[in-house]
Amino acid sequence: MERRTVVSGLGFYVPPRVVTNFDLEKMMNTSDEWIRERTGILERHWAESGVGASDLGYEAAVKAIENAGLDKNDIDFIIAATLSPDHYFPGIGLMVQAKLGLKEIGALDIRDQCSGFLYALSVADQYIRTGTYKKILLVAAELQSANLDFSDEGRDMSVLFGDGGAAMILEANDSGDGRGVLGCYLFSDGRFVSELWMDKPSSRDNPTFRVEFFQQGKFYPRMNGRTVFKNACEKMPQAVLYGLQQLGLSISNIDYLIPHQANDRISQMVGRALRLPEEKVIRNIQRYGNTTAASIPIALAEAVQNGLIKKGHLLALTAFGSGFTWGSAFIRW
Ligand code: UT7
Repeated sequence: MERRTVVSGLGFYVPPRVVTNFDLEKMMNTSDEWIRERTGILERHWAESGVGASDLGYEAAVKAIENAGLDKNDIDFIIAATLSPDHYFPGIGLMVQAKLGLKEIGALDIRDQCSGFLYALSVADQYIRTGTYKKILLVAAELQSANLDFSDEGRDMSVLFGDGGAAMILEANDSGDGRGVLGCYLFSDGRFVSELWMDKPSSRDNPTFRVEFFQQGKFYPRMNGRTVFKNACEKMPQAVLYGLQQLGLSISNIDYLIPHQANDRISQMVGRALRLPEEKVIRNIQRYGNTTAASIPIALAEAVQNGLIKKGHLLALTAFGSGFTWGSAFIRW
């Protein structure tokens, strides 16, 4: 009987402050119309100063632990995915650990940006299936609003991002009922590093922090939007098709596709490329913006909470982001 990794608890948290496109109009040279038409986003949540990505992850973790009906002391490993850690180092996994009051269990941070959740899930799946760990807390949390460029140079990115965290508890299913993670398929291509990145701070520069870098806006995230868009629309469907082939499944087996919520036009194009009916593609970017590594698990948690996703459904998850990194994962819910 094949052991599978199941999600036994889920939760998500977004900070209370809602920032609409109209609010952004007051902060930079943009319009509600441009943002809605080009991205589908209507509003996003932004944290207040003093809150870090680990705080969002912690709030989500508390909900996931409660949802699993778990004693938090039974968690034996933490995996965290973020590109916006509270500190340059260390990562947020052990900060969530400290906030939960869990001592001396391992905490691993994953740095794969918008694909971070899929990478984290694949690592967790390996640990659970080999029996290395029994109850893993996976946290994906992002706080990008604190470092956005509101000038014309950065407005393509600054309208996209929202803050938020999601968490799940993963454990073994030995019942043989087929539920759980069926497979994770990960890809990357490091030739595209500078197409979507934050150039500075860089260990290549000695000294690392220089006033001129601040003046040149080098500490802001930058992206070649059109290249990212084109690659995202190609690579996500490819990753889903690859995974289906590996599993001996077909598109008609998918009950819901949860794409990384990068841009609603991308999600729609991915759905169309796979010939999936619109109602099978889960999209919530309208209300949250692009929450990077947290976007897939937030969409998953919300869809489960709303009763959309039910036991037995086949879920296809896919992501694309900075690196480039991309991939797919399949879960029998
Ligand atoms: O999550 C990780 C991966 N990220 C993504 O997947 C994002 C992928 N890229 C995108 O979603 C899109 O490329 C954007 C939404 C970022 C941009 O949309 P676009 O349709 O590719 O626009 P563009 O960058 O080609 O810019 C079109 C015009 C430009 O003006 P000109 O040169 O035509 O006069 C931009 O300066 O829109 C302008 N523009 C804006 N105007 C108003 C760019 N950003 C804004 C803005 N408000 N926020």
